[in-house]
Amino acid sequence: MMSHADSLQGTASARSSAHGLARGVLADLRKTPKQLSPTWFYDEYGSQLFDAICELPEYYVTRTELEIMHRHMADIAARLGPHVAVIEYGSGSSMKTRVLLDHLESPAVYMPVDISRMHLLDAAGALARDYPELRIKPVCADFTQPFSLGPLPASAARRVVYFPGSTIGNFETDAARRLLTSIRTLIGGNGCVLIGVDLKKDPSVLQRAYDDAAGVTAEFNLNALRHLNHKLGADFDLSSFEHRAVWSADHDRIEMYLVSLRDQVVHLGNEQIHFARGEQLCTEYSHKYTLESFARLASEAGLVVSHVWTDPQNLFSIQLLERRWLL
Ligand code: TRP
Repeated sequence: MMSHADSLQGTASARSSAHGLARGVLADLRKTPKQLSPTWFYDEYGSQLFDAICELPEYYVTRTELEIMHRHMADIAARLGPHVAVIEYGSGSSMKTRVLLDHLESPAVYMPVDISRMHLLDAAGALARDYPELRIKPVCADFTQPFSLGPLPASAARRVVYFPGSTIGNFETDAARRLLTSIRTLIGGNGCVLIGVDLKKDPSVLQRAYDDAAGVTAEFNLNALRHLNHKLGADFDLSSFEHRAVWSADHDRIEMYLVSLRDQVVHLGNEQIHFARGEQLCTEYSHKYTLESFARLASEAGLVVSHVWTDPQNLFSIQLLERRWLL
């Protein structure tokens, strides 16, 4: 059979000039407290480091999600039904996507949505080789902004948004609610969402998952600065910053920072950014939910949790969400 990797759907807004990028970074570094967009983690080295994080003994997230998929896939696939259009948020080169595709009954189309054109095309290409009969339609877009999927095959019975990895946890509550609301709109009346949600647990387990003994997560966090140096010509001295992961009981989240080890000035273009010794630059949050707190968030986005699969230790959950009908 022929491969059906269609032409790329997407918008030019996914690309930005270095000038625009530098302005955005400067604005974030001028905030109090200082921030950096997590997108800076992901250059080629950063993506390799993230793959290494997923294999760490302390990072239970990926392993546990995959274990749940393997154990419950027949049930999951039966609940999704035949001829679904799978819309994955993030580019699905991963094992998880393959487990899903292996079990679905004649999926109508697979549409990975990713902001990185390169990741998207690599992942779609790899899948096309291994799933020659699957229709694949990559969509280059930032899924936090309105985007168009383009036409779906007439054979598609329903839309399923697949959103693994507990990436939803990387959004603050308001943004997570907005994102889920936009997903609710996208799936249409009979659609559903299959989403990975990491669960609240002993803070020491979480702390280790985001600050591993081998220092891979530290290297991953610091790589955001290396990326800024390469891409925008900044002069961050990586040995003058340190990775820190802290559990916030007030917000039910792990907060990731880069801490300045000394009083220092960093240059970006013609601009100077001062860091006090001990000052924290916030790079990422990872929110953790209880089944109750996630059900509440989903409900605020007009979705109901229709099924939850977990591992025996309740570390992680995969949840099926459907539209809540308001009478
Ligand atoms: N979605 C992942 C998570 O929250 C992302 C992640 C894992 C991450 N380890 C990290 C982000 C370390 C920043 C730093 O678990």
